[in-house]
Amino acid sequence: MSHSLVTMSYIVATILFILSLSGLSNQETARRGNYYGMLGMAVAIIATALSASVSSYVILLIALLIGGAIGARAALKVEMTQMPELVAIMHSLVGMAAVLVGYANFMDSSISLGGVEKNIHEIEIYIGILIGAVTFSGSVIAFGKLSERISGKPLLLPGRHWFNLCLLIAVIVLGGLFLHQTETGGGSVPLWIMTAIALIFGIHMVMAIGGADMPVVVSMLNSYSGWAAAATGFMLSNDLLIVTGALVGSSGAILSYIMCRAMNRNFISVIAGGFGTGSGGEAAVVEGEVQPISAEDTAQLLLDAKNIIIIPGYGMAVAQAQHTVNEITKLLREKGKKVGFGIHPVAGRMPGHMNVLLAEAKVPYDIVYEMDEINEDWAHVDVSIVIGANDIVNPSALDDPNSPIAGMPVLECWKGETTIVLKRSMASGYAGVGNPLFVLENTRMLFGDANATMQAVLKALKG
Ligand code: TAP
Repeated sequence: MSHSLVTMSYIVATILFILSLSGLSNQETARRGNYYGMLGMAVAIIATALSASVSSYVILLIALLIGGAIGARAALKVEMTQMPELVAIMHSLVGMAAVLVGYANFMDSSISLGGVEKNIHEIEIYIGILIGAVTFSGSVIAFGKLSERISGKPLLLPGRHWFNLCLLIAVIVLGGLFLHQTETGGGSVPLWIMTAIALIFGIHMVMAIGGADMPVVVSMLNSYSGWAAAATGFMLSNDLLIVTGALVGSSGAILSYIMCRAMNRNFISVIAGGFGTGSGGEAAVVEGEVQPISAEDTAQLLLDAKNIIIIPGYGMAVAQAQHTVNEITKLLREKGKKVGFGIHPVAGRMPGHMNVLLAEAKVPYDIVYEMDEINEDWAHVDVSIVIGANDIVNPSALDDPNSPIAGMPVLECWKGETTIVLKRSMASGYAGVGNPLFVLENTRMLFGDANATMQAVLKALKG
């Protein structure tokens, strides 16, 4: 394929990626956005495969087959609840690719640059490996935390900010040393040491994050993986990779900002790590009597109500209860009830998790509201049903300064008339804190798997 044709294909792919991102920003256009993304990626892969930069089609084909097979298998096998882990591990692969491309570039003796160009190329290699290594190790730890292989509790080393500062200074000094040594054909020692430091920093950064604050880390690593891809693009002189990396990097940064705002966290402290860990005191212990309720009584409460709000959380994803929830919603609306959904920005385990589930079950978009819209209106709500949610409806976030989720805005359902909480036990949520909502005077607990209990409620409503 001629150079100009490759360039044109890259421009087409770039446009498709931009259309994809804009499509993904809205539920109604998200499906179309995905198609644009797939098409863009197909154009990008074909154009790159046919470009003059490919020296061995056999190696390329083998790599495509292996990568494609692993990707297809993972996508087919993964449960919706494991999606965030899959995304985290994918981010780590982008980071690893940047590191490997960086080392390959460093060792490639066929690249003969001189003067400023040589310096720029070496800086690209150094920064590419740096971002790649942080992204790689940080994402592996994020994968461990999201899949609960590593404890969600923050690891708070004494003097951790000083430790991070020392690492940063070491990276800068080593960078100078690397540039100096490459003039005489060396540079590998500072590069190896910097890679080790970057790997340690990635691990330390994510280990220091408390469970409930993981959403910000996920979106931040998403952004890092974009910048790692852009750095790879610079090293390979591939314009499309630079643009795509920048798109992912900046959209991930915007998402991190939105997440920080949603959780009332400071963006800079996220990057420094170890934020959101409470004020250091002991979180209050929840004491009080729980009032269980049956599916039949729940159905009766719903039939007596006029205004109903449903709050889905991670447990709805685990129970795959969204279809039953949709059926109940349809039935109640047919009976003239006003039913709405309240979505917390960090409900579930990935941004937009609940929206995806509700869209899958074909819940109408116009009755799905954001947290801020719902929180203004609790005085008019007769019954709220919390389906497998916990941290996002925890009042201690607002009134216990020692709670690990202190300061995080939550759906204030207890301000409505009655709240029914569906969960299997009294276990805590992802942040590992007790929830005083469960023992409030106007809360009823409907114990069991959310899908089974929702089925029972549906049956009672019909009966
Ligand atoms: P959680 O606080 O994790 O609570 C989920 C609840 O669902 C649990 O208490 C669990 O109680 C219940 N549950 C689990 N399986 C169930 C089933 N089959 N049937 C009924 N209930 C079930 O979830 P949330 O309220 O959605 O909050 C999200 C949390 O995850 C936040 O802390 C957030 O910071 C964190 N997080 C979010 C993200 C993103 S981007 N959204 C990423 C990483 C972490 P039982 O075991 O008693 O049933």
